[in-house]
Amino acid sequence: MLKSVRSVVQLRRFEFSKTTRRLNACGDLDDLRAIAKKRLPGGVFDYFDGAAEDEVTKTENSRAFANVELRPRILRDVSNIDTSTTIMGQPVPFPIALSPTGFTRIAHPQGELAVARVAGAMGLPFTLSTLGTRSIEEVAAVATGPLWYQLYVWKDRGLSRELVQRAKAAGYKSIMLTVDTPVFGRRERDVRRGFTLPPKIGLETFIDGILHPKWTWDFVRNEPITFSAVAGRADVDGSRAITLADYVNSQFDPTLSWKDLEWIREESGLPIMLKGIQCVEDALVAADMGVDAIALSNHGGRQYDGAPAPIALLPEVMQAVGNRIEVLVDGGVRRGSDVVKACALGARGVMFGRPYLYGLGAAGEPGVKWALDHITQGVTRTMALIGETSITHMSDGVVKRVRQ
Ligand SMILES: Cc1cc2nc3c(=O)[nH]c(=O)nc-3n(C[C@H](O)[C@H](O)[C@H](O)COP(=O)(O)O)c2cc1C
Repeated sequence: MLKSVRSVVQLRRFEFSKTTRRLNACGDLDDLRAIAKKRLPGGVFDYFDGAAEDEVTKTENSRAFANVELRPRILRDVSNIDTSTTIMGQPVPFPIALSPTGFTRIAHPQGELAVARVAGAMGLPFTLSTLGTRSIEEVAAVATGPLWYQLYVWKDRGLSRELVQRAKAAGYKSIMLTVDTPVFGRRERDVRRGFTLPPKIGLETFIDGILHPKWTWDFVRNEPITFSAVAGRADVDGSRAITLADYVNSQFDPTLSWKDLEWIREESGLPIMLKGIQCVEDALVAADMGVDAIALSNHGGRQYDGAPAPIALLPEVMQAVGNRIEVLVDGGVRRGSDVVKACALGARGVMFGRPYLYGLGAAGEPGVKWALDHITQGVTRTMALIGETSITHMSDGVVKRVRQ
C-alpha cells in the first residue's frame, strides 16, 4: 500500500531557508513585488514603487510592451542561442544593464553592494547613482562586472568634477548623464506620507516600524544611510532629514544644457550615455553631438504624466538615428520577452530599476539574483520560442506589428 502511494505521491524535500522558500514560491516579478511590499515599511515601499502624479506614465511604460507582437518561426534549430552583444564598447552576455537608483540602502543594508555583486557575477553593467548610498570606491571594490556612473550635475561644478574623476580613477567605464530631471517630479505617494530621507520618525512611521521589525532592526543596527558621494559634508550628505524634491531642487543645476556636454566629456574622457531622451528631435541632437549612447527613458514614470513609453518611442527613434548611435530602452521592462521585443525593434539593449529593487526589498542579494535570473532566462526562452538564435541578428519581420 505504502509502495503504491509512493508511486503516485512524491514528498517534496523541506527547504530550511525561509528566503529560498519565499523565492521558490515566486512566479513573476509581481510576486517578488508583493513580498517586498509586505516586508518593507509602507513609506519605503512607496518610495521605490511610486511614480509621479497619477502614475499613468509608469503604468503605460510596462503596458506598451504588450502592443508589440512577435512573429515566431518554427522548426529552426534553436539549440544554441547567442544573447551576447556589446553596449558602449563593453561585451555583455545579455543586452541588459542595471539602471541607477538613489537611496538603495533603505531597502536593504547591503544596498548597492548587493546589486553590484549580483550584476558583476552575471557580467551585466551596474550603474551607481549620484544619490547612491554606497561610495564610488566601495562599489568598485565588490564589483566584478562593468560599472557605469550616473551623474546629476550639482550647482557646485567642482563637486561634479570630483565625482567624475573619482569614478574614472575607480575604473568605471562610462558616464550616464541623466537629462530628465531639471526639477524633481511630484511623487504623490511620498508627498502624502511626508517621506524624507532619512525617514523622520513620526507616530505613523513608528507604528510602521513596529509592524516591520526585521527592517527596523536592520535599519537601527547598521550605520546611518547617507548620500555617499558627499559623505561627511553635513550640508548635503543627507544626514539631516529632507524631502528628495527639496534636495534635488536645491542641489542640482537646472541651467544644464547641451553645451555642458563637452565639459563632461573632457572631464571624464569616458563614453557618455544620455538617459532620459523622450523625442526624436533630441535623439538627433545627441547623435549629431557624438554622444555614444542614449537611453529612451522617462525615469520610470517618476517625473510627470504624459511622457511617451520608451518602447513605443523606439521605432521612430530607430528610423531617425538607429545606425548612428546606440539606443537603449529604460522603463517598464518586466520580462525577458520585453528585452527581446526591444532588441527586435533595433534597441542595443534595455535597462531597468524597480525589478532589482523589488528583489532587494524582498530578500536582499538572493532576491536581486532571482529578478535578474527571471529576466535573463526569459530572454533565452523567448528567443527559442520565436525561432531566433542571435539577439544581434534577428530576422527582418520578427516584429509583426506594433499596435497603437
Ligand atoms: C527608487 C528609484 C530611484 C531612482 N533613482 C534614480 C537616480 O538616482 N538617478 C537616475 O538617473 N534615475 C533614477 N531612477 C530611475 C531609474 O534609473 C530608471 O530610469 C527607472 O527605474 C526605469 O523604470 P523601471 O523601474 O520601470 O525599470 C530611480 C528609479 C527608482 C524606482
